[in-house]
Amino acid sequence: MNNKSKINRNAPCWCGSQKKYKQCHFEFDETLKSLSLQGYPIPNRSLIKTKEDLAGIKKSCQLTKQILDDLNTIIKPGITTNEIDQWVYETTIKHNAIPAPLNYKGFPKSICTSINEVVCHGIPEDRVLIEGDILNVDVTCIINGYYGDSCRMYPIGKISEKASHLINITKECLEESIKNLKPFDPINKIGDTISEIAARESYSVVKIFGGHGTGKKFHEDPFVFHYKKREKLMICAPGMVFTIEPMINEGNADCIILEDNWTAVTKDNSLSAQWEHTVYVNEDSIEILT
Ligand code: MF3
Ligand code: CO
Ligand code: CO
Repeated sequence: MNNKSKINRNAPCWCGSQKKYKQCHFEFDETLKSLSLQGYPIPNRSLIKTKEDLAGIKKSCQLTKQILDDLNTIIKPGITTNEIDQWVYETTIKHNAIPAPLNYKGFPKSICTSINEVVCHGIPEDRVLIEGDILNVDVTCIINGYYGDSCRMYPIGKISEKASHLINITKECLEESIKNLKPFDPINKIGDTISEIAARESYSVVKIFGGHGTGKKFHEDPFVFHYKKREKLMICAPGMVFTIEPMINEGNADCIILEDNWTAVTKDNSLSAQWEHTVYVNEDSIEILT
């Protein structure tokens, strides 16, 4: 028995709550211990957010959500993705926040804008959006060092029936994967839900990108697979914050990264859609923060 891992039941909890361990994370640790014995990776304590962390993350998620809401009135045929980027940059700064993508690993803009066959990480440019395009805008704000990450689809004017169906099904993938997930489920549950819905529609799930833990870093553990994995994946323990952000292709799942080293497109040039939320694993439910 390793003494270091054994806290006295009456000692203060390791989470910093000032409560006694037995009245705080004792049962939590017992549950994780038994899941670990069943072969599931369990989160490191650094992934369990404090109350202060959660409050900070909620604030940045709120701004991200507000920006995505407001984009509905701004995005229309004739606008360029650079103009959308500029608007998001100014709005973010006005709220004393920082656009996380700007200069992140050399990314040159404040948002990702992914049009039609672009899967994700499209770079805003002078291309004019035209009726029938489908656009994904991915916004991440940082406030007081905390990240809030979310993306949505924006139809440009009137779009085709099949584009609209792809957008709706991708949204369903995200929403159902959240509804089906419970605290202490493994991450596998997310990919299982998404794969089943995509397969039902003969769509494919992009494999080379996933969701991610987030908080004081843009990307942290766990990696959130959006497709079925046979291996046991990390347990979603109360206190964790991560994104779910399925990318669904009309055709094949394969992607190509363009010369700019960012823009991911479908290999077969078929349409792709994506929706993303940041979620918090609460005691008895999954809470959407964006
Ligand atoms: N917001 C994206 C995500 O959901 C990451 C974009 S990284 C960037 O994880 F550099 F391309 F902005
Ligand atoms: Co993300
Ligand atoms: Co994002």
